[in-house]
Amino acid sequence: MGDLPVLNLLPDEFYEQFLSELAVNRTDDAIRELMPLENRPGLISMLVGKPNSSSFPITSLSFTAQDPNDASKEIAIRLTPEELEVGLQYSPTQGVPEFVDWLYKLQEVSHGRKRGEGWKLSVGNGSQDLLYKAVTSFVNPGDPVFLEAPMYPGVIPLFQTIRCNIYEVETDAKGICSHKLRAMLESWPASNPKPKILYTVPYGCNPTGMTATLERRLEILALAREHNFVILEDDPYFYVYYGTAPRPPSYFSLEREQPDVGRVIRFDSLSKVLSSGLRLGFASGPLTLMRAIDRHSTNANLQPNSMAQILVISVLSRWGHDGFLTHTQRVSEFYRAKRDVFETALRRHLTGLVEWVTPESGMFMWFKLLLTEDDDEEGDSAAAIRTHAFERGVLALPGTVFLPSGRKTAYARASFSLLEPPQVDEALRRLKDAILDARSAAKK
Ligand SMILES: Cc1ncc(COP(=O)(O)O)c(C=O)c1O
Repeated sequence: MGDLPVLNLLPDEFYEQFLSELAVNRTDDAIRELMPLENRPGLISMLVGKPNSSSFPITSLSFTAQDPNDASKEIAIRLTPEELEVGLQYSPTQGVPEFVDWLYKLQEVSHGRKRGEGWKLSVGNGSQDLLYKAVTSFVNPGDPVFLEAPMYPGVIPLFQTIRCNIYEVETDAKGICSHKLRAMLESWPASNPKPKILYTVPYGCNPTGMTATLERRLEILALAREHNFVILEDDPYFYVYYGTAPRPPSYFSLEREQPDVGRVIRFDSLSKVLSSGLRLGFASGPLTLMRAIDRHSTNANLQPNSMAQILVISVLSRWGHDGFLTHTQRVSEFYRAKRDVFETALRRHLTGLVEWVTPESGMFMWFKLLLTEDDDEEGDSAAAIRTHAFERGVLALPGTVFLPSGRKTAYARASFSLLEPPQVDEALRRLKDAILDARSAAKK
């Protein structure tokens, strides 16, 4: 990356309008606020009620990890006494410093965003934890929000519980339909407040598998500026991109070139490439908004799990950023192969019964069930998937669960991450029978 332009950062006060009442009223944790002072040389701290680690029963931890350059080789790792101590102890709200430092560097490598340029990074118990904290920090009950649809169903209940006024933004094979969002915004009734946030999954969207094109991303960024909203870029599939075209830059990266910077909060996840059980994700965004998320953490669960962070950084520090990227490349090749097997079997068993667009990232196939002979009528996949497919011995999700409105749709989602080729073949053979069952039931 060449010389970077001087950034026109939005000032801290700008973000006050984006904070929910909950976030404004939330106060700091008196102890955690002072914890950074403990690092002052020579200081004797009597601040925190940290248990004395000599009373902890775990005395060593050794494990092996893959060599990123040769997955058949293993690297032996034994935590040093200092690492073990950090892992077993309370640690800072935003994350274990060594891990946080590594992640800042990763954001620079992957998105061209440098530490100290008006943004902040915090670790959470998976990106889901940070998404929950972000939404409750930015949205008041009844507030309007833009959600791309179909969308990740894991956050629909969150927006519904806060009783948000949900405006769905359509997506298609090129990702989020920025032109449709523009049309919505340009005809917005003057008496209605416009949404303050837009939620989108930019690569390998769950469930559609679509990746938003560069043009769409740029238009969304322009709209965010023109109509004053913040983009929640939920991106667990960034490192699982296997499209043939080069991966377009993230919103977080692209906004660096915008006339003003600071309308994107990016949510990364280590779940799809390192471990989903360790529950580690991280968010990167404007200082004021990230501090609101941290304050929620201090109130809710104090911090993400120290040991999970130590385990991961002990691997990542040996791998380096290049090693991590080599590893993620291998992971994305793995899912590309899974996708190919699935798509071949789809063609074999379901041609004429379903329609789909080939996903370019992630682990999902989103397909439309052709349940009626009438092309104009949108069928409903719910019975075919919930009843007929289940009876035939195959489980998938009907598309309605991915729509905040819960309206009927002919689409369904199948995850291909775990299945071996014979299982894919059998599952899709059963699905074919289920669709034929649903078709005959519809005729009765
Ligand atoms: C779009 C999307 N966002 C967030 C998550 C949650 O990820 P994490 O495991 O990091 O909490 C998922 C998990 O499947 C997802 O698909």
